[in-house]
Amino acid sequence: MKIQSARFVQSAPELRDCPNWNRAEFALIGRSNVGKSSLVNLLTNRRALARVSDLPGKTQVLNFFLLNEAWCLVDLPGYGYAAVGKNRRADFNEAVADYLEHRPNLREVFVLIDSRLPPQPIDLEFLRWLVGVGVPWTLVFTKADKQSAARTQAAVAEFRRAITPWAGPDPRVLVSSSIDGKGRADILGRIAGVLAEASGGPA
Ligand code: GTP
Ligand code: MG
Repeated sequence: MKIQSARFVQSAPELRDCPNWNRAEFALIGRSNVGKSSLVNLLTNRRALARVSDLPGKTQVLNFFLLNEAWCLVDLPGYGYAAVGKNRRADFNEAVADYLEHRPNLREVFVLIDSRLPPQPIDLEFLRWLVGVGVPWTLVFTKADKQSAARTQAAVAEFRRAITPWAGPDPRVLVSSSIDGKGRADILGRIAGVLAEASGGPA
């Protein structure tokens, strides 16, 4: 899929502030600092459309970006940065949970995982919750440029093993790097497939 245009539409602190439209939305979620905003910039081929920072917790609200005047990327605040609450739902941003549970426009969630780390409890806990929500998801292992392909594949395999008991043996998995552009075509291809499915055309 070719990206002809990309523009920031609006921010939303809460679900009720989200755009009142019927566009398909694809959300990016993951731990703070995993590279969600960087991935928005990679997918849109823009250096600073979404704000990126070395400090975790940069993105604090839901940010909506319209691509090709047709569909939307939603850059979500990361989890694992704010103090962990008592119950599972409070472990991540309440507005994010609301959005993921109740937004009819949401077609798929890209769950970003740092490819350099062993499975992190907070990622496993989040994904388990998301599986319960029932929205389609795809894993994206980020920052692949920081290590060898073999190490990244080992991390993917270990993560797969950790989630198999409750997520099934064959999750969709992609690998990305906002430095060298790896994964861009795969992610856009996945989005194009989902959009084509919804419109009844060939995937
Ligand atoms: P929050 O908004 O805090 O939740 O973080 P985020 O997930 O949006 O992360 P962000 O895109 O701001 O990136 C965090 C840091 O990681 C920045 O310093 C980025 O430059 C760096 N980074 C992101 N993606 C990559 C990548 O693929 N490779 C490398 N080497 N660095 C990356
Ligand atoms: Mg961000």
